[in-house]
Amino acid sequence: MIRGGKPLNGMVTISGAKNSAIALLPAAVLADTEVILDNLPNISDVAIYSELLEELGAKVTRRDDEIRIDPSQLVSKPMPNGRVKKLRASYYLMGALLGRFGEATIGMPGGCNFEPRPIDQHIKGFEALGAVVTNEQGSLHIKAEKLRGAKIYLDVVSVGATINIMLAASRAEGVTLIENAAKEPEIVDVATLLTAMGAKIKGAGTETIRIEGVKQMKGCRHSIISDRIQAGTYMIMAAATRGNVLVDNVIPKHLEALTAKLEEMGVEVQEYDEAIRIIGKPTYSAVDVKALVYPGFPTDLQSPMTSLLACAEGTSLLTDYVYGTRFKHVPELTLMGANIRVEGRTAIIEGGKFSAAKVKAADLRAGAALVVAALTVQNEVTEITNVEYIDRGYDRLVENLRNLGADVWREIS
Ligand code: EPZ
Repeated sequence: MIRGGKPLNGMVTISGAKNSAIALLPAAVLADTEVILDNLPNISDVAIYSELLEELGAKVTRRDDEIRIDPSQLVSKPMPNGRVKKLRASYYLMGALLGRFGEATIGMPGGCNFEPRPIDQHIKGFEALGAVVTNEQGSLHIKAEKLRGAKIYLDVVSVGATINIMLAASRAEGVTLIENAAKEPEIVDVATLLTAMGAKIKGAGTETIRIEGVKQMKGCRHSIISDRIQAGTYMIMAAATRGNVLVDNVIPKHLEALTAKLEEMGVEVQEYDEAIRIIGKPTYSAVDVKALVYPGFPTDLQSPMTSLLACAEGTSLLTDYVYGTRFKHVPELTLMGANIRVEGRTAIIEGGKFSAAKVKAADLRAGAALVVAALTVQNEVTEITNVEYIDRGYDRLVENLRNLGADVWREIS
């Protein structure tokens, strides 16, 4: 429940990145001894992943934002649909178990279903490393007598495939080259952990990643990078409510694409070493946005950005080149009075004002878009349901918004 109209003011501290944490947790499988991760986000995807690791025999202990994973007793056993369907990143268990045990049986991944999300590039990578992949009653059985390094050109720039191949190749014999690799900061974070565990990886964050496989990997401590998508969402909320917010514990370089677009609209953005201040203005200009792979404008911020563009003056075109049909937030924003039409992979957004309504979150970022819109509605209450989607990726959202002066609360419906 959000009674909007109040400018957000104050400071918010960003926690660790969801899309890094849910890759780092399975990466621990590759070690023989304990891995410690800190700056862990308090989100449901992390809780689900901890349960998956425990199901495989790992000893998992959490305290505050730290998690300890002891993989010494872990085994590779079939992980049928059930829990793995709850999140997309369960597919990382394929690369990790294959790397450590040469075998994995995992149900097909779930997660946000805003459009069909194939894993053909992951499979292509595993097969290139010498694995045989068969589909058995909806689960993938992946087995390799011996994993051997290979040259793998990704037909599509894929975050998931890049990370999954890196996991498996870390313990393969010989050298693997991943070409046309994705360059997202979360990939660099995973490579940093794997290197601290003893892997030999070069080029993470560039289009070509070189992995020299090692026989053994050991435990270590690693601090998870800050969540650029959470940070970006708060920057957009601050601008939409014409507030003044310091978004702390961020890496400004990771948010350059968003910062550039906000400044183009007329938002004032002040960058510091590990923080960004957003100062809202009375009016914003319409701009065109293209969601692309990193370092382009992130597709995960296009939904919240749609809500901000609907508050600007004029017509904005927002095109998503990563997911062509990621527009499940549009019908709900239309219920809140927005004037948006979708043509192909482009949303044509007419500037205007939102009004309150009862709306549903269709997935994680679509939910965030509804929160942005609701915060702008002068003194009217918007009811957002399906919030479990939002809790999957936003740590302490209600608490943080209340600390910034918003009138927001949870109701059990
Ligand atoms: C990751 O998904 C993120 N999820 C997504 O964030 C994010 O939207 C996406 O990267 C793009 O940045 C996690 O990290 C868990 P991709 P991923 O493989 O890895 C196509 C969020 O809101 N493709 O980079 O699944 C695919 O269909 C989530 O936090 C293939 O065709 O994305 C898409 O069009 C949502 N074959 C494009 O590539 C493949 O084998 C990019 O997908 C793999 C992908």
